[in-house]
Amino acid sequence: MSKGLFITLEGPDGAGKTTQMDNLAAYLAKRGRSVERTREPGGTRLAEAIRQLLLKPGYGPVDPRAEILLYAAARAQHVAERIRPALTAGKIVLCDRFADSTLAYQGYGRRLGAQLVEQINNLATANLKPDLTLLLDVPVEIGLRRRPGGADRMEQENLEFHRRVRQGYLELARREPRRVRLIDGTRSPEAVWAEIQGILDGLLAG
Ligand code: TMP
Repeated sequence: MSKGLFITLEGPDGAGKTTQMDNLAAYLAKRGRSVERTREPGGTRLAEAIRQLLLKPGYGPVDPRAEILLYAAARAQHVAERIRPALTAGKIVLCDRFADSTLAYQGYGRRLGAQLVEQINNLATANLKPDLTLLLDVPVEIGLRRRPGGADRMEQENLEFHRRVRQGYLELARREPRRVRLIDGTRSPEAVWAEIQGILDGLLAG
């Protein structure tokens, strides 16, 4: 068992994860907690290199199975090199996206199915599960409108793809309500943060 705490942020593109990640990291640091902040795909040199391959448009149509295996490869390296050691050292790991993104995007978005995704996720994570997952939910149209600058390869997918992604997340929250906390991301960043802070305080007190 790891001594640390593993917290992930999830949600469709443009849900406001980065802002809330900033809030979480600052809040925990102020309380003297040792925080390791990271993201997926990425978090190590190898995984960041794989991120470039995954998100840069221009490699042509990417086969869904090639895509899921690249996300999984990045995750396996990230877990082994960074997340597990940080948890073992007693840190709080804050990760922007993790295995639930694969369920939503590849399982539902690409329609690879939950069962296959679970097998690949278990392999990539060596069965590591977050202690808490904050799922910031926004309707697809709002999320995509919020994204600054040019869209990456995933964001360029059509509305139907992004609707399936959101559906996947909502079903996950229904299935695992204790771990996955569904948060309405359409409100102001301050209101969203107030809710997250309450959830976090509860977790830290427990
Ligand atoms: P982001 O860091 O800006 O959220 O970009 C990552 C993109 O990759 C985002 O569109 C979600 C997607 N993604 C997957 O499709 N599967 C995954 O397993 C992960 C971690 C991300």
